[in-house]
Amino acid sequence: MTSSRRRPRGGYVMPETRRFHAPGRVNLIGEHTDHTQGLVLPAAIDRGITLEVELGGTTIELTSRQAKGEVRLPADGSVMPAAGWGRFVAAVAAELARAGRAPVGMRGMLTSDLPHESGLSSSAALEVAVALGLMAAADLALAPLELADLCRRAEHRAVGVPSGIMDQAASLLGRAGHAVFLDCATMTHRYVALPADHAMLVVDSGVRRSLESSAYADRTRDLAAALPALEGRRPAEIAVEELDGLLRGLDPLPARRLRHVVTENARVRATEVALSRGDLAALGRLFDEGHQSLRDDYAVTTPELDTLVSLAREAGAVAARMTGAGFGGAIVALVDAGTVESVAAIVLERYARTHARRTGAALVCHSADGADER
Ligand code: GLA
Repeated sequence: MTSSRRRPRGGYVMPETRRFHAPGRVNLIGEHTDHTQGLVLPAAIDRGITLEVELGGTTIELTSRQAKGEVRLPADGSVMPAAGWGRFVAAVAAELARAGRAPVGMRGMLTSDLPHESGLSSSAALEVAVALGLMAAADLALAPLELADLCRRAEHRAVGVPSGIMDQAASLLGRAGHAVFLDCATMTHRYVALPADHAMLVVDSGVRRSLESSAYADRTRDLAAALPALEGRRPAEIAVEELDGLLRGLDPLPARRLRHVVTENARVRATEVALSRGDLAALGRLFDEGHQSLRDDYAVTTPELDTLVSLAREAGAVAARMTGAGFGGAIVALVDAGTVESVAAIVLERYARTHARRTGAALVCHSADGADER
C-alpha cells in the first residue's frame, strides 16, 4: 500500500512517496522452453527489487542502493544509456511510450536484495518494478501478461537477448505457496501448490553470468535449425516417443537442442503431477533428468553447477538442478525445511573444497506473491 499520502504540513503539500515491489523468481523446471512457446514452472520468491518514488515531472531520476551510478532520462525513454542498469529503465519507458503511456516521470530509489546475474531474474524484477511505477505515474493500467510481454520486449531492446516471457510473467503472477504453470503458447496459467514443509535452497556458484555475453542466442539459433522438422508443430506438442523418428536426418547439434526442449516440456507436465501427488521421489528423478539434459543436450551448465547439484543431492536435497539460463548462476534444490540450513552449510563447505577459486553463496527462498504496490 501507499506509504504516505499527500499531507499538508505548514502550508506545503508534501510529495507522495509510492512503493512498488517486484520479486525475482526461481524456475523449478521448464528451462529454455519459453522461447519456443513451451511450458514453464517458475515460482516468484521472497526477494526482489523495490522502487520508492515520487511520481511526476518530465524525467525519470533513479539511484540504486546496490548498483553503481544513477539514471536521468526523459520520461518517454527516448535516450538509451550506453551501458548499465539504466538501459532497462529506458527500454521499459520506451516500450510503455509505444503502448500509449503519457510521458510522466518519477524520482527516487531502487533497493534490491536479489543477487545480480545469478539466474534469479534481477533484470526482469527491475523492469517490472520500473514499469509499475511509470504506469502509476501516468494512470495507465495493463493486464499482468500484457505487461510481462512488454517487459520482455524491453529486455530485448535493452540488451538484445531474445529471451522468453517466463521471468517477467513469474514476477507478475507469483503466488505465495505456489509455483506458476504457464503455457507460453496460450498464455494460460494455473497455480501448483508447493510442499509446505520444504524450502527452496538456491546456491549461487559464484560464476557470474550475463545473458548479454552468454550463448543464449546461439542456443536459440541451433534450436531454430531443428524446428522445420516439426512441420509447424511446437516442441511442446511432440510426444517423447516421436523424437527418434523426427531427429533422424537432422544435424547432431540442432537435434540435441531439440531433444532437450521436447523432453523438458514433458518433464514440466510430469513435475506438475508429481507435486500434486506429493511424490518427492519422482520430483528428484525429474530434476536429475532435467539437469542432465541441460548439461548434455542443451549444453548450458558449467562444471560448478554440475558439482553443486551432486553435492546438494548427496547432502539430502529431495531434488536439485540448475535454474535460469545457465552458463553460470545458481542451482535450486528442494530441501526439507527442518534441515535446509545444515544442507546449505554442507554444500558450501564441500563446494569450497572442490572449487576453491569460487565463492558459493546459499539463499533459502520461499515462494511469494507477484509484483504490486506496497
Ligand atoms: C532466461 C530467460 C528466460 C528463459 C530462461 C531459461 O532466464 O530470460 O526467458 O528462457 O533463461 O529457461
